[in-house]
Parts: sequence; C-alpha cells; structure tokens
Amino acid sequence: MIADLVLVGFGNVARRFVHLIDERREVLQRDHDMALRIIGIATRRHGTITDPDGLDALTAARTVDAGGMLAASTDGSGAARCINTLAQNGAPLRIVVETTTLDIAAGQPAIDHVRLGLESGCHVVTANKGPAAFAYRELARIANARGLSFLFEGAVMDGVPLFNLVRETMPAVAIRGFRGVINSTTNHILSALEDGHDFHSALAEMQRQGIAEADPSLDVDGWDAAAKAAALANVFLDAGITPHDVARTGVGPECAGRARLAKAGGRRLRLVASSTRGGRPTVCLVDLPEDDPLAQLRGLSNALVLDTDTLGKVAITQMDGGLTQTAYALLSDSITVRRRTHAIA
Ligand SMILES: NC(=O)c1ccc[n+]([C@@H]2O[C@H](COP(=O)([O-])OP(=O)(O)OC[C@H]3O[C@@H](n4cnc5c(N)ncnc54)[C@H](OP(=O)(O)O)[C@@H]3O)[C@@H](O)[C@H]2O)c1
Repeated sequence: MIADLVLVGFGNVARRFVHLIDERREVLQRDHDMALRIIGIATRRHGTITDPDGLDALTAARTVDAGGMLAASTDGSGAARCINTLAQNGAPLRIVVETTTLDIAAGQPAIDHVRLGLESGCHVVTANKGPAAFAYRELARIANARGLSFLFEGAVMDGVPLFNLVRETMPAVAIRGFRGVINSTTNHILSALEDGHDFHSALAEMQRQGIAEADPSLDVDGWDAAAKAAALANVFLDAGITPHDVARTGVGPECAGRARLAKAGGRRLRLVASSTRGGRPTVCLVDLPEDDPLAQLRGLSNALVLDTDTLGKVAITQMDGGLTQTAYALLSDSITVRRRTHAIA
C-alpha cells in the first residue's frame, strides 16, 4: 500500500527521517506492505516543493545539508500548500509529518499544521512537542471524530516507545503521576559540570550534534522539559495545561558548584520533571541519592518513571538518544497509522 507523505519542516530530524525511510524501504514493504512516498516538503526559509508523483527527497536532503535551497519561494504559505496537495491526492494513506521548530509561546504554527492536516482528512505524525503540550485535547478530539491518527511518539524521549507503550500495552491502567529526566541537553551539561567541565563547551557539543533546540535557551531555561512535562500531563493525566502552567527552573553555569558538591557527597544533581494527577507539574533541579534510577542517567540518557494504579512504578529508560531515534519515532508512528488502517480494512 502506498502511503503519501508531506514533510512540514525539513531540519535535522526530517532529513534523517528521509534517509531512514530509504534504509528501511525493504522491511517496510516486506513486513508492513507499505511504501512511503514523499510528495511535498515545506520549510520556512529554504522554499517548498511538491510533486504528486513523488519527490527525490534524498537529493532534497543533500541540497539542504549542503546549504542550498529547495526552491526560491519563501512566502510562508508552503505548509498549507503541501497539506492541500496531500489532501487532494488519491493515495490510500496520507500522512502529514510535522517537524517544525518548537515555539514555546503558543506551540504555533505547528498546531495549525496539525489541525489543517486532520481537518483535510490526513493522519498526522509529529516530533514537535507543541501540539501535545498546548492543544492535545482539541487535536485528539478532531482526530478521533474523523477516525484519523494524531501521533507524537518523538515528542518525548526520542524514539523510545512511551506513549505507544502505555496506549498499546497498558489497557485499563491509570497513571497516577510521573517523574523523569527528559531533556538530553541539560542532562549532558549537568554530567559534564559534575565532572569539572565547562558549561559553554558542554552546550556547544549538544548544538554540534543537533540535539539542542535551534534556540538552545529553550533547553537550558527548562522550557523543553516543561513542554514535555505538559505533553505527558495532558496525555497521561488529562491535565489540559500548557508549558506555561509548569513550575520551571533551568540549568546555567552557576550550577557547576552544586553539581560537583552533590557528586562529592555521593549524590547527583539532575533536572527532574514530575507531576501527579490533579497536581501542578514541575521542572526543577533535584539533588538525588545515588541509588535513585534517575541519578544514574548520564549524558544523553533519559528516563521516566510512571506511577500506575495497577503495575506500581514502571521505569522506561533511553540509553541513547539523538536524531536517528527521533526520526525512528516518525517511522514507527507511520507504521502505527498503517496498522490501524489494516485493522479497519
Ligand atoms: N533534534 C532532536 O534531536 C529532536 C528530538 C526530539 C524532538 N525534536 C523536535 O523535532 C522538531 C524538529 O527538530 P529539528 O532538530 O529537525 O529542528 P530544525 O533542524 O531547527 O528544523 C526545523 C525545520 O522547520 C522548518 N520550519 C520552521 N517554521 C516553519 C514553518 N512555519 N513552515 C514550514 N517549515 C518551518 C525549518 O525551515 P528553515 O530551516 O527553512 O527555517 C526547518 O526545516 C522540533 O520541534 C524539535 O523540538 C527534535
């Protein structure tokens, strides 16, 4: 079955996704009867291209990697144009893949992209935290009413199956709360600080690897973790909040002394996101005892501990995070869309 895709946003994650599709083409066909075809790519400053018969997305990725443009047009209407092209084509599966930059003021324009995709009859998968962090109830309601999927596995802990795990394997389990280390950039920085390294070089390394947000203050000021905490609270605890409702602190050069002192005392300083059902989510620096599973996370490792009414505490750990893992989340969400369609057919 052909699944036509448009990529709204063509940055680090989307370009890695294009390569992953190519690498997994055979397995997608063999195991999932699925051929992914990209028919549109929209960016903010690199132009927009569409072709209902399919684009050469690998060449497009190489063009942008090399600093080139996809097309001259930068009039800001590219996303809507791509989504309209997708909505009008006849493929049995149509998926909008949203990976624009996180906007911490209001989650836009990603929310508009997701809403337009769903209202145009397309499934939507995204690695952007904004839609689930700011507008989960509304977007999930539109998707459910239309029998479409709105999936965002890559929004928290890259490719580790977190939302999928709860949705698919924990039926009739209620989540009472969560606590976790869910921002790789600040965890890498805190690990570096406790080892005596410098804040700015640790941050620069995360930017070099494409892990830090385009605006790294989103990571170090705790906004990225707050957006993830809001998404988790909205999905697991029915909170109906935004990242601005999360009590938040960040990580700066001034944390170096506290991180080294904690380590010298057999403890670890970590940026912990947590919430309970009905409570206010927080993102704050916590001095953790060394035997706490969150204290043992170093560098890019993330973990989330879910407090459940039936299974007790369930911990999910990601040892290696990064672009490939986030791109994989988009691939696994696309396969979930295919599986659901198969179940209905
Ligand atoms: N990087 C990671 O490891 C990671 C992990 C988990 C989640 N995420 C999330 O995944 C998303 C993408 O991350 P990334 O690292 O790929 O970001 P990125 O490299 O900064 O790319 C963002 C892309 O969005 C495009 N864009 C921005 N506004 C747009 C608009 N209004 N219409 C169309 N395109 C628009 C940009 O176009 P121009 O380049 O032309 O401006 C660019 O192609 C973000 O929301 C991020 O929070 C990233």
